[in-house]
Amino acid sequence: MFDRPGSGERTVLVHVQTTGDSEDLGELRELAISAGALPLAVISGKRQKPDSRYYIGTGKLEELSLAIAEHQAELVLFNNMLTPSQERNLEKALSVRVVDRTGLILDIFAQRARTFEGKLQVELAQLRHMSTRLVRGWTHLERQKGGIGLRGGPGETQLETDRRLLENRIRMIQKRLEKVEQQREQGRNARKRADVPVVGLVGYTNAGKSTLFNRLTQSDVYAADQLFATLDPTLRRYQVAGQLLVVLADTVGFIRHLPHELVAAFRSTLSEASDADLLLHMIDASDERIDDTIAQVEEVLGEIGASQIPRIQIYNKLDLLENVHPHLERDEHGQIAKIWLSSISGEGMDFLDQAIIERLSGEIKRHVIHLSSSEGALHARLYEIAKVLNDEANENGGWTMQIELATKDERQLRELDRIWIADRVENWEAAESK
Ligand code: GTP
Repeated sequence: MFDRPGSGERTVLVHVQTTGDSEDLGELRELAISAGALPLAVISGKRQKPDSRYYIGTGKLEELSLAIAEHQAELVLFNNMLTPSQERNLEKALSVRVVDRTGLILDIFAQRARTFEGKLQVELAQLRHMSTRLVRGWTHLERQKGGIGLRGGPGETQLETDRRLLENRIRMIQKRLEKVEQQREQGRNARKRADVPVVGLVGYTNAGKSTLFNRLTQSDVYAADQLFATLDPTLRRYQVAGQLLVVLADTVGFIRHLPHELVAAFRSTLSEASDADLLLHMIDASDERIDDTIAQVEEVLGEIGASQIPRIQIYNKLDLLENVHPHLERDEHGQIAKIWLSSISGEGMDFLDQAIIERLSGEIKRHVIHLSSSEGALHARLYEIAKVLNDEANENGGWTMQIELATKDERQLRELDRIWIADRVENWEAAESK
């Protein structure tokens, strides 16, 4: 029998490029730090294909072993996916905890999950990951509470390794998740009935979604200089420029090559985004890999069926760029397509409000509306929010107005003033022909 070695923060990163593998070392480092590890050395190399026993060759294994001794490392993080037996062989050979990319990302997700649903999803993913690793002689599979065991030891509870128990637990979590998903669906339907548009925030991890979300809603959603500060979609009401009520949905940060165990969890936390009326695609404008991250996000949006949803690209972190001022750019149809702003300093926020209002306002409709003499307030209100084409006194001492009104303003009249324009208008053409 072999017990897994303990773990700690002192870490050696291993980055082996094989043919067709494009993981990047910078990201591994960020992920490691994000999980609370302290990277001290990097072993990198190239291979045609992974070694079946250790992933790396014996020469690299020796190099890795020396680096571990030199830095007194307690943890090795691989930027690749290891098979359970490679992981085991490495741990035996090196006597330190070895975690692959999947384990690392699962760990980060586990730390960041905030809502009940998010926690369930991560636990499910972890259990599934473990169930592939359940073999004899590999008994000490910790429930990943402190994650990769960075803060391991006494706090960790041992997971019952019996496969049957594991499967029972998986089934139980699935049932609970179904319930939570039903509740979420009910909430979504309620919002649809209330006709409040949903604005979804999506983007690559660390782009600044939580920071913007907090600024807009002044809520206390956790934002940190760590990847995946948000795992769960978080919904808040936001009154855009004091005019238009929307629901803002913050979502989990995207990441390239998401481990397959997490894809389902990730998708369901994005369900709010795939149902949104407008998507704000947050982009870290200071990121060197900007084109690649944009492409990654676009790809996932396509996969979750969200590519048809109107979208605005938000180039965030403007404060880190030189000689760029807050501004907006329109596409060939004249629609606002890109905004440059800073969620931290707040520069450019007015452009964002303008864009949300413009993009959600939809089509502009013409109405003929009859007002009685007691409706002076509404008469004045229509001058504020509609374009008045004609306004005549009618025989009742009231007014007959011809107006152009945007859908969003109609929605607003309904929500704030409790006035249903559609109930009180005459058909435009009919009125015209009189
Ligand atoms: P995930 O939850 O990992 O998907 O990240 P996120 O997109 O929610 O990013 P978050 O809001 O947590 O921000 C990530 C880091 O970027 C934090 O350290 C923020 O302080 C920083 N940040 C966000 N917006 C800006 C900005 O406009 N300028 C600068 N300089 N930093 C920013």
